[in-house]
Amino acid sequence: MSRTNPTHFHLMLRLLHWTMAVLILAMLFIGISMVSTDGPAYPVLLALHRPIGIALLILVCLRLAIRLATHIPPLPADLPRWQAQAAKSSHVLLYIAMAGVPLIGWAMLSAGGYPVKIFGDFVLPPILPQNVYLFGWLRLAHTVAAFAFFALILGHLSAALIHALIRRDGVFEAMTLTRKRPAEHSTDNVTTLDFENQQLRNPQARSRSHSN
Ligand code: HEM
Ligand code: HEM
Repeated sequence: MSRTNPTHFHLMLRLLHWTMAVLILAMLFIGISMVSTDGPAYPVLLALHRPIGIALLILVCLRLAIRLATHIPPLPADLPRWQAQAAKSSHVLLYIAMAGVPLIGWAMLSAGGYPVKIFGDFVLPPILPQNVYLFGWLRLAHTVAAFAFFALILGHLSAALIHALIRRDGVFEAMTLTRKRPAEHSTDNVTTLDFENQQLRNPQARSRSHSN
């Protein structure tokens, strides 16, 4: 793997990507379940939601630092310009959401005058003065930002699946924990499906191979 043109994201970035993806999806469902109940599950879910959210805020700072200090794999040269631009912009938005949603959560509890309890007696200091109007706005902002984040993740997941299953251009593998990234147009990368596709596109080749 060359230092300036790597085939994979840095191992730490890949580990952080998948750990954070699991935690973020869990947080979205914990958040929705939390506001849908006023039963005994509420305090349990809230006690999970706060520390995981703050842990994600710390992890995104670490991830950003590693991201800025390392080289990342280039996108395939044949990717249309608008798709490459869309990929870059959506990644920036994902980073903004990963930092913004938990920050709004912390700010919202601060403005509401609620303690941001992490575990045991460990409580984070408020980051905003107590203000009921601000609390109202931030409460709404947390919901809107969390749902926008979810929509962004669905778009990102669709793009990742197009790379993995349709284009099969190595973009997906760049973020996986495997070492192999299929080189474009390399013959050792031809799968059974590729072979079948070739046969369908070129029936003469098929008849030749059948007659052999
Ligand atoms: C990536 C991080 C986070 C995600 C994805 C997330 C997501 C959510 C979602 C989806 C809801 C439900 C919104 C609704 O339907 O109205 C919610 C509510 C909430 N979140 Fe977060 N959140 C995150 C971080 C945080 C943090 C760091 C805190 C505080 C330290 C926090 C505190 C709250 C509170 C207090 C509620 C509302 C509970 C209620 O109204 O009963 N969240 N969050
Ligand atoms: C759930 C929350 C997720 C978040 C917040 C997230 C965030 C990101 C970000 C910010 C990047 C850009 C990497 C960088 O520049 O540092 C990225 C890349 C990537 N993600 Fe995700 N991701 C999530 C889930 C997923 C899922 C579920 C998949 C696939 C099933 C996926 C597949 C990929 C792939 C293949 C790349 C590399 C794309 C490229 O090189 O352009 N991600 N992700």
